[in-house]
Amino acid sequence: MRNSKVLPFDIPRSWNSPAPAPAPIYRSVDEVARRLKPEAPVECVFPEAVRGQATKFLRLFPGRVLYAVKCNPSAHMLRHMYDAGIRQFDVASLEEAQLVRGLFPDAEMHFMHPVKSREAIRAAYKMGIRTFSLDSTQELMKILEETKSAKNLNLFIRLAVGATAAAYDLSGKFGAAPSVASDLLRHARKVAHKVGICFHVGSQCMDPASYAGAIARAIDVAQKAKVKLDVIDVGGGFPAFYPGMNPPPLENFAETILAAAKTLLDDGTELWCEPGRAMVASGASMLVRVMLRKGRRLYINDGTYGSLFDAGSLGWRYPVRLVRPKAPVRKDAVPTEGTGKGMSVRTPSEKLVGFSFYGPTCDTLDKMKGPFLLPEDTQEGDWIEISQLGAYGAAMQTRFNGFFSETVATVWPAAIAVPAVRPRRPLQLVSPATETSPIALQLSAGEPSSNGHDEAVAATLE
Ligand SMILES: Cc1ncc(COP(=O)(O)O)c(C=O)c1O
Repeated sequence: MRNSKVLPFDIPRSWNSPAPAPAPIYRSVDEVARRLKPEAPVECVFPEAVRGQATKFLRLFPGRVLYAVKCNPSAHMLRHMYDAGIRQFDVASLEEAQLVRGLFPDAEMHFMHPVKSREAIRAAYKMGIRTFSLDSTQELMKILEETKSAKNLNLFIRLAVGATAAAYDLSGKFGAAPSVASDLLRHARKVAHKVGICFHVGSQCMDPASYAGAIARAIDVAQKAKVKLDVIDVGGGFPAFYPGMNPPPLENFAETILAAAKTLLDDGTELWCEPGRAMVASGASMLVRVMLRKGRRLYINDGTYGSLFDAGSLGWRYPVRLVRPKAPVRKDAVPTEGTGKGMSVRTPSEKLVGFSFYGPTCDTLDKMKGPFLLPEDTQEGDWIEISQLGAYGAAMQTRFNGFFSETVATVWPAAIAVPAVRPRRPLQLVSPATETSPIALQLSAGEPSSNGHDEAVAATLE
């Protein structure tokens, strides 16, 4: 999707594009390393974690849940969320809108980026998008002009709020001051079908009180404008678990938001949220490989221009684990030192020491201080699983220096281990699960499979 050319006036091509092939399925990240022996980073997606978080949000949040696509736009990730019941998507670009529309024709999308090109507004409206956010009069005018002052618009004013409890401040770029927001709201009320206020308290927000404060500010803005809000959208910002960051549970956020918005909700206002990070952080790891070791420096094949932007620029220490799968060796084989094919089969040292990571590009900034605790004998050829990277991981990759990887592996032990009901439409393993097959266990529709094990896999996926 990233490189596709979009003609803004056409019906986007992805409306009719076929759904992507399912990702190969593995029982564990170690199995991914053992089978693929990947030279480039692999995004390992955990469907159970993704579906679990989506289900949790839908259960706990007392309103509409929109997934913020920017956080991880992988079609596999989106599929799992859809399967768990997510039908609403916050899109930031036409490209994201086309991706979602191509996958889920019945999904509802909301264009929540406060600054959009005229072409994007026009094409989005043509696609059926009716909700647009804005934080300036100029953007309001653009939306009205490009939709020919359509009567069915939902216009959301993005309110500036502080980000005191967030690890990642998003207040520096967007958001109208309260007096400007009141004026915009009054104006929007005259032309829109529905009006709302949205905000973002900052990403990885550790304190539910931040939402309560922002909601109080929104109520104040609406009262000053003498406008009844159809929607209050509390945005994203819900936190995930990272080393050194232990946020309160989602329940606390939901309760605080509900209490703060009670007067609005009693008055018929709808509540929305747009989680990204909390929805998918635990849903994927990156499997990276050590290309060289210099003392406590590990030169790996992923970095700040790849999936590890936050590890470099914010100094986040993601959880790491050495992955050194036991390769099948002859009885008399001598354990290697990671030379030859660059693969060690030795049992890793039990002693953990701190390492820094250096990314694959030639830029000096491409380094991640850590420290990342790994076995003392970590060496060239080893793989490392970097966890909690489902949010703003693979999504942040550039092609700088020619490094870019789109390889996705689905890690789903339950798909193998837990037989469910028989499939309605039989599925079959299309590739034999051999040690060397890179597409082992890939599934597709086809003839009924003849062995019970395969059926269990297929049935669970139906
Ligand atoms: C408009 C909007 N909504 C939602 C999100 C998702 O935020 P988070 O990942 O912190 O939940 C973002 C992130 O930048 C955003 O800009």
